[in-house]
Amino acid sequence: MTNLDKVRVVVTGAAGGIGSALARRLHAAGARLALTSRDPERLDGLVRELGGPGDGLWAQSADLADEPSVESFFEGAREHLGSLDALVNVAGLSRPGQIVETSLADFEQIWHANVTSAFLASKHAVPLIDPDAGGAVINVSSVAGLRPNATAPLYCTAKAALDMFTRAFALQVKQRRIRVTALNPGGTDTPFWGDRPVDRSKLMSAEDVVDVIMFVLNAPSTVQISAVEFEPFHP
Ligand SMILES: NC(=O)c1ccc[n+]([C@@H]2O[C@H](COP(=O)([O-])OP(=O)(O)OC[C@H]3O[C@@H](n4cnc5c(N)ncnc54)[C@H](OP(=O)(O)O)[C@@H]3O)[C@@H](O)[C@H]2O)c1
Repeated sequence: MTNLDKVRVVVTGAAGGIGSALARRLHAAGARLALTSRDPERLDGLVRELGGPGDGLWAQSADLADEPSVESFFEGAREHLGSLDALVNVAGLSRPGQIVETSLADFEQIWHANVTSAFLASKHAVPLIDPDAGGAVINVSSVAGLRPNATAPLYCTAKAALDMFTRAFALQVKQRRIRVTALNPGGTDTPFWGDRPVDRSKLMSAEDVVDVIMFVLNAPSTVQISAVEFEPFHP
């Protein structure tokens, strides 16, 4: 995809820091968008900011851990966009904490937000991608999926699973001319961090991450970018 004008893209986690920055950039590039996130009010706010809803801009909130909700979103995406060219799975969350103090409900929430979401969105997006035209799936993972940290072990676990899902899924959909990429960013200044004590001046911006996503989306269709690991650079 070297020209994103009219390209049909689904973005999950679209009302979040990275997702909204991506939606703004894709919209400016002329892409046709179907956006989803959990919080309907923030999603509506983003759509209004982009001048929609309207032709080429549609959104519906969904809990991506809930298959009927995901099915309903993709049914709407099909009605509004027809077939799809790309899916960018941005949705995800972390809950830092000691394992001995973590509930099974916390574990399930982290797993669902990072792994189930990508599985269900991929499952329902693939049938909408024309195998003659091909397409792209980008899963936003994290450096936490590649390198353990003691702060958020379940987040590391979920992102490592997402990385393996990405690699194995890529083999399954290769024959449909779908290229699948894992994106492994380091710390990025978004609402993801909540009130955790981090020095935000040391983080990347959501725009930085979007630059890398656009690089992947713009790669020639003869190139498979399997994974991109990147992080803040402070020489
Ligand atoms: N910020 C970082 O430092 C960083 C670094 C590496 C990787 N990442 C990854 O980057 C992605 C985007 O994060 P961000 O920094 O933009 O954080 P963010 O601002 O908190 O956005 C996360 C988005 O995911 C959505 N989401 C979470 N669980 C969901 C679910 N079950 N169903 C539907 N939507 C769900 C949230 O929706 P609601 O807000 O409506 O709940 C929100 O829109 C995540 O996958 C994160 O793990 C972030």
